[in-house]
Amino acid sequence: MSILVTGGAGYIGSHTCIELIKAGYSVVVLDDLSNSSREAICRIGGLVGQEVPFIEGSIADRSVLQHLFSNYQFSAVLHFAGSKAVGESVSHPLMYYRNNIGGTTVLLEEMARAGVKQLVFSSSATVYGDAPNPPFREDQPLGQPTNPYGKTKLFIEELCRDVAASDAQACGGPDNNPWHIALLRYFNPVGAHESGRIGEDPRGTPNNLMPYITQVAVGRRPSLSIFGSDYDTPDGTCIRDFIHVVDLAEGHVAALKHLSAMPGCTAINLGTGVGYSVLDVVHAMEAAIGRPIPHTFAPRRPGDSAATVSDPSRAKAILGWATRRTLADMCTDAWRWQQANPQGYGE
Ligand code: WQD
Repeated sequence: MSILVTGGAGYIGSHTCIELIKAGYSVVVLDDLSNSSREAICRIGGLVGQEVPFIEGSIADRSVLQHLFSNYQFSAVLHFAGSKAVGESVSHPLMYYRNNIGGTTVLLEEMARAGVKQLVFSSSATVYGDAPNPPFREDQPLGQPTNPYGKTKLFIEELCRDVAASDAQACGGPDNNPWHIALLRYFNPVGAHESGRIGEDPRGTPNNLMPYITQVAVGRRPSLSIFGSDYDTPDGTCIRDFIHVVDLAEGHVAALKHLSAMPGCTAINLGTGVGYSVLDVVHAMEAAIGRPIPHTFAPRRPGDSAATVSDPSRAKAILGWATRRTLADMCTDAWRWQQANPQGYGE
């Protein structure tokens, strides 16, 4: 049996493929390469010592999915594929609703048709919206995401809950095996595989903090703008729950291993439970690279919350998983990747 990894050439998907293969799973990757690189697939193969089957295509392409489900025996799907740039989602909402929600709908229909009803979905802390008083718990009321990207994550969670609650026959499945769906809510993934061979390689100007910092550090950008220094936090900059991408990948393996014991739909936070400020990260990166990071303070970025931190206790209780890597590890590993790959994968 194999695991289908949609978006497996992307930042989190590629790191998860490595941990899946290390855990003994066979992996098949589907990716349309719209925001990722074929080179990442080659490098995964180099790191695990075996070629990873890769199909270039979209989750919205029914014929591609039907080809995959008829040519492989999948036990589960890890679903990372989707558009994820917050700013782009504001300017192109229909593209985001079509790609993320429409594509996921087609994927689940074809999974049901094939009788593959174990799913791990790449959700996000953004579903908590502007909820006050972190740390956030999975059973608290969800917020109103402040952008279409975040809304697609919330809508897909609802879609999964409805599918899991629906009658198996209504889904067209060949038997009555119920859906087992894990909704993994990421906080802020950063860092890279310790080899420095794979890492975060955003197209164009990075939206996210860490890749922007490493591009300044490697000389691709002159200076970091810190958005807001007047928040109600100890140093005035925003606080986030940064999690090492390999800890995150290991969390997916843990969720997959426990999925058969989780019928229905289960939301689980993947975070450290520890908040660091933007300035904390700048200082940790300066320690990692051994020199200052040029930065200036700019006005607040619309949509940002002052603090977003997880309560990771459910992941520990249900999956027996918790993060192991420190902020220093995240910075050291992110820098090793960027230093070895100043232009990312170069495509
Ligand atoms: C973190 C902090 C910025 C860039 C988003 C998505 C979330 C997830 C992670 C996918 C904020 C500040 C940033 C910069 C800065 N995505 N910042 N200068 O917004 O917490 O979360 O990415 O799973 O779903 O919502 O992450 O890294 O963009 O910002 O000062 O150049 O860094 O203002 O306070 P965010 P981020």
